[in-house]
Amino acid sequence: MHFPKLSPLQCRFTVSLAASVMVLCIYLFLWNPHFAYAAEIETTNSRLPAAVVLDDYALDLTDDLDDLDDDDLELDATQQNEQYTKRATGDVVTLGGSNVPGLLNIEAGNTTIWHFSNTSLWAPYANATPGLPSSIDDGDTGDSGTIYKRQAASPRLVYISVTTCLQPQWNGSTNQTTIPPQLTLYVSNSTSNKEPGPNGPVREQTAIRLNEGFANYSMNATTDIYMSVHAPDMPNNFTGIWNYEIAASIDNYYHGAHPDSPFLYLVDTDTHAALLVTNNLTEANPDDIVYQQWMNLTSPFTVFVQPTIDKSLDGMRNSYCGMTHASINNASSSVQSGMITRGLGHKPKEQFYIQELNGSTSYFGVLAMEGNSTKTGSGVVGGGGQVWQPVNFQTKADNNCALVFNLTFCHDVAYAVPSNPERYPDQPSLSAVYDSYAAGLYENFAKSLDQIPCNTTLSAQYSPAKNCDDCADAYKQWLCAVTMPRCEDFSSPLPWLQPRNMGQKPINSSSSVGSMPNPNMYMQLQDQMDQQYVPMTSAPSDSNAFRQTYGSVAASNSSRNPSIIVDKIAPGPYKEVKPCEDLCFSLVRSCPAALGFGCPDPGRGLEVDYGERSDDGQVTCSYLGAVYYLNAASGSGPSSLVFAVTIAAAVSLWILT
Ligand SMILES: *[C@@H]1O[C@H](CO)[C@@H](O)[C@H](O)[C@H]1NC(C)=O
Ligand SMILES: *[C@@H]1O[C@H](CO)[C@@H](O)[C@H](O)[C@H]1NC(C)=O
Ligand SMILES: *[C@@H]1O[C@H](CO)[C@@H](O)[C@H](O)[C@H]1NC(C)=O
Ligand SMILES: *[C@@H]1O[C@H](CO)[C@@H](O)[C@H](O)[C@H]1NC(C)=O
Ligand SMILES: *[C@@H]1O[C@H](CO)[C@@H](O)[C@H](O)[C@H]1NC(C)=O
Ligand SMILES: *[C@@H]1O[C@H](CO)[C@@H](O)[C@H](O)[C@H]1NC(C)=O
Ligand SMILES: *[C@@H]1O[C@H](CO)[C@@H](O)[C@H](O)[C@H]1NC(C)=O
Ligand SMILES: *[C@@H]1O[C@H](CO)[C@@H](O)[C@H](O)[C@H]1NC(C)=O
Ligand SMILES: *[C@@H]1O[C@H](CO)[C@@H](O)[C@H](O)[C@H]1NC(C)=O
Ligand SMILES: *[C@@H]1O[C@H](CO)[C@@H](O)[C@H](O)[C@H]1NC(C)=O
Ligand SMILES: *[C@@H]1O[C@H](CO)[C@@H](O)[C@H](O)[C@H]1NC(C)=O
Ligand SMILES: *[C@@H]1O[C@H](CO)[C@@H](O)[C@H](O)[C@H]1NC(C)=O
Repeated sequence: MHFPKLSPLQCRFTVSLAASVMVLCIYLFLWNPHFAYAAEIETTNSRLPAAVVLDDYALDLTDDLDDLDDDDLELDATQQNEQYTKRATGDVVTLGGSNVPGLLNIEAGNTTIWHFSNTSLWAPYANATPGLPSSIDDGDTGDSGTIYKRQAASPRLVYISVTTCLQPQWNGSTNQTTIPPQLTLYVSNSTSNKEPGPNGPVREQTAIRLNEGFANYSMNATTDIYMSVHAPDMPNNFTGIWNYEIAASIDNYYHGAHPDSPFLYLVDTDTHAALLVTNNLTEANPDDIVYQQWMNLTSPFTVFVQPTIDKSLDGMRNSYCGMTHASINNASSSVQSGMITRGLGHKPKEQFYIQELNGSTSYFGVLAMEGNSTKTGSGVVGGGGQVWQPVNFQTKADNNCALVFNLTFCHDVAYAVPSNPERYPDQPSLSAVYDSYAAGLYENFAKSLDQIPCNTTLSAQYSPAKNCDDCADAYKQWLCAVTMPRCEDFSSPLPWLQPRNMGQKPINSSSSVGSMPNPNMYMQLQDQMDQQYVPMTSAPSDSNAFRQTYGSVAASNSSRNPSIIVDKIAPGPYKEVKPCEDLCFSLVRSCPAALGFGCPDPGRGLEVDYGERSDDGQVTCSYLGAVYYLNAASGSGPSSLVFAVTIAAAVSLWILT
């Protein structure tokens, strides 16, 4: 379980703000736990550069927020005007040192010059810290926070990073059509250029436009470094200011962003929750100390989740600072996280169970690290946090698929199964029904397996390549996938889904939102029951397969385990992601022939019982450990959602009894 470390509410005004910005900032005060490190600027640099012109609104705000804030807001007017004057004459802000960020507001068209002093450059390196148990293989070499290479001698490598914490807001009369423009970082690479910026000498500076609110740059330096941050002109229909954090470090980047590293995957959703999981954090084996160290961690990462329709983060998706300020649904009490080993390879991963989501809604989730994962903020190498590539997902619409995980017997199961909130309102009660059913079937199987000479000498085994443990594994994999079908909305049009239980009345859930399926759909469904249904085009032409209707066959009008699903749970109509056919093939291959396992042939049931894996990245059938193959959030909205899939199961005729 992970709860964020909240820092006290802080917000300080260093710039004159229009009324609308005030409103925005009040909002930020109320919603965002860590507003700013403006304190760093003030304590480390007495010459506060930005103009502070408190107007009536600001004074009102000061009154309102007296209890939240400290005296920094109450700069008196003379002092402010003095600072204003200094700024106008081209003042420079000096960073407080290596790994000490500066945070400042900036208005459209303005440029602020930052100075990283020779003293800071040649200050002692930060003490080495243990770091994470191993560096994570996210396909990106620039991992921030870990101190891994430092030069002893001149010149010194300096890591510069900038992130946007706040950006102008859309105030057009229609829906937002564009994102606010990005800030630009200028770094002087010549001692004679002490005022880099849009008007500086092009050959003595480097310009880096922020990308989704983030830029990094490293350079070898021997003496003072001058940088600047420039805000573009305000485009039409936007209003407000930017606020950004800049840091220079001799140890490693203070801020990190890995926008090209998909490191977070969707496992599944239901109408109110989503289950996300990181990639393998290490490839080490359970005996390795690194493996144990990872498993000992409580929660090295965090996630931010935001509805895709909400544009407030667009333009800042690479900014941890921006996330903490604009993201409403971050790792708060609605997120439970922890280390798991479930899934392919059983390697350590972090799982996030995000609740309190709305149904039928597109979201994106961003994996992030708060500071260096154990400590955050000024003075910490990598203290500014890191973010990875966003992952898009959509919650389910119908109320009869529920996420289950953390099961005792089928402990690799983690996806939505057919459910009925009226009968089984919580996850433990629902998963217990399925889990004990599967465990019971397994017991019967184990008894049969006991009759087979397994643990004998190799020559007496039923197969030189497979032993009874392989058989038991394959059976369990198959059994769990088949007894716990992976459930999807009946309304989902995905072609590989198998409709099930069509004739059953939907759950009467007048009480709950997202009642399932909606009344109109049920009417349409009744009409469909008499229509021809040909799930297996390769069936023998003279067979019944071409004379079936949706209502007449069990494949569409019943479930895999009718005694459990139809009778006990009674979820109403749902669709199933069929289990992968290879689960069945593997079972047949791994187990002794004496057990009598077989898989249906094409045209004789295979198509309605099992699905095929696809090689285009979609998950079109269900297997334990499957994760949605999720594309990156494009930043342009929900249009690019790809729904891949999951798991399902078909208990078939040849289950051992
Ligand atoms: C920003 O630029 C405007 C116009 O040049 C100037 O009046 C204002 O003082 C600047 N603001 C700051 C904070 O420097
Ligand atoms: C910068 O600091 C180094 C080491 O303290 C010193 O040798 C050098 O002279 C300084 N350079 C300048 C321009 O002050
Ligand atoms: C994070 O930084 C703090 C302070 O520098 C250090 O004590 C801690 O070990 C670091 N954590 C990691 C995971 O490196
Ligand atoms: C954006 O601004 C332009 C110029 O002021 C105006 O013509 C246009 O109607 C605005 N668009 C929206 C969507 O408000
Ligand atoms: C504006 O967005 C809302 C939802 O946010 C949508 O319902 C509406 O159709 C949009 N309007 C236009 C003109 O795109
Ligand atoms: C500074 O950087 C610019 C742009 O990268 C480059 O063209 C120029 O040669 C560099 N100047 C020096 C003195 O390194
Ligand atoms: C800094 O200098 C080192 C050694 O001289 C070199 O390997 C490295 O590429 C340089 N880095 C940059 C960013 O210039
Ligand atoms: C620096 O930026 C590049 C490009 O955005 C990114 O690939 C790299 O991971 C960044 N480094 C860090 C430490 O964030
Ligand atoms: C994991 O934590 C336990 C209990 O705190 C400790 O005894 C053990 O040494 C730790 N293992 C590793 C590899 O750090
Ligand atoms: C994790 O590791 C396993 C085994 O090494 C591998 O099969 C799997 O693809 C890896 N990645 C994920 C996301 O599970
Ligand atoms: C999973 O089960 C473990 C113990 O069995 C429990 O500590 C943990 O909170 C459960 N996780 C969730 C998300 O329910
Ligand atoms: C085979 O023997 C091993 C160790 O003796 C035991 O752990 C395993 O459960 C046995 N397998 C079966 C299927 O009996």
